[in-house]
Amino acid sequence: MTPESSRPDDLCAASLKRFALDSPHAPPLVPSSVWRCDDPDQAEAVLGGERPGYVYQRDGHPNADWLVEKLNALHGAASGAVTASGMAALALALVSFTKPGDSVWLSLHVYGKTLQLLYGEGRRWGLRTELFDPWDPQSARRLEKHGVKLIVLESISNPRLRVADVAFWAEAAHQAGARLLIDNTLASPVLFRPLEWGADLVVESLTKVINGHSDLTLGYLGTQQESTEPLRQLCSTWGWTASPWDCWLALRGLGTLSVRLERAVTNALHIARWLALHPKVRSVDYPGLPHHPDHSLAQRQFGGRFGTLVTFHLWGDRAAATRLIRAVSEAIPFCPSLGELSTTLSHPESTSHRAMSGAQRAALGITGGTIRLSCGIESAEWIERQLAAGLEAV
Ligand SMILES: Cc1ncc(COP(=O)(O)O)c(C=O)c1O
Repeated sequence: MTPESSRPDDLCAASLKRFALDSPHAPPLVPSSVWRCDDPDQAEAVLGGERPGYVYQRDGHPNADWLVEKLNALHGAASGAVTASGMAALALALVSFTKPGDSVWLSLHVYGKTLQLLYGEGRRWGLRTELFDPWDPQSARRLEKHGVKLIVLESISNPRLRVADVAFWAEAAHQAGARLLIDNTLASPVLFRPLEWGADLVVESLTKVINGHSDLTLGYLGTQQESTEPLRQLCSTWGWTASPWDCWLALRGLGTLSVRLERAVTNALHIARWLALHPKVRSVDYPGLPHHPDHSLAQRQFGGRFGTLVTFHLWGDRAAATRLIRAVSEAIPFCPSLGELSTTLSHPESTSHRAMSGAQRAALGITGGTIRLSCGIESAEWIERQLAAGLEAV
């Protein structure tokens, strides 16, 4: 005979009446895809955003709300949303703050997929997207004439690590009646909080240093809009909701962000200085080096810390990069992402910027010999030793 407690009826989760959690120190994971509703009025009020609570995971869930609360506080955002990826956060910004026919200005120096989204998909959606050079002093003068509604920049650009003058562009945008969106992924809120410098919208790919453990994809959009409800509704309708498990992991990663970042930033400065003197290296992009075109701006904006990425260009082309990548792969793997616990490297020509034409890449200074190094939390001496051995093979 089946014992009382293990009958199928009793094992069914739906028959568990209570999930009482008596103040656990670590936040619980709430993977439920649906909630029990008291009655039709309560369900309707929650779904309409008139009452707090949850009904259906795609509309919102506790793990996303706990993560958003922390990120909003970090960025000083009035409202925000977490999304299933950084790209989903950019898409959410696009559908929230533009409409077909609007003119959008996108920096020339951005992550390859951002270009595809705002230029390729954006145009298909009816936007008039134009690429512009944020370091050309003439650019701002043309803003008003073009009736621009949204300007999109990266605070530190991927992969050439140019630094955008956020206060300048916020003022220019507002004078022209536009909003300024800053993708802050390469800086993170520990280094820089764009809303405090006048930006209207901030995006983070939480996949990178904010989570820091290479085990999820998530994005965040922070805004100065009072109500969270429009973002929540659009996220649900377009299906960009983040999973509870990913949000739970990211909240855990966030707890150690500042110590991980401090260490990785120190490593990056050490490695950038060392690479700049290496005979196999043609040039190094790092905002912390005095010859970098945005060095003094970076110093002012980021308070003397310059990020965890170092991009360098070998004298050789793709074959030289391939030799280096193969030689260091045991210690420093070729992982086309960034912000991991351990040091990794990427090759923009074959990964993040492969959809660009050769001419577009050349205009940005990305060649087959360009390597983007993401410094982790090992010792600087260890990273230097591995790279030194790898460069021997070039
Ligand atoms: C600057 C930047 N923005 C956005 C993204 C997109 O983030 P995700 O991969 O989480 O969609 C990336 C990804 O590499 C990135 O580097």
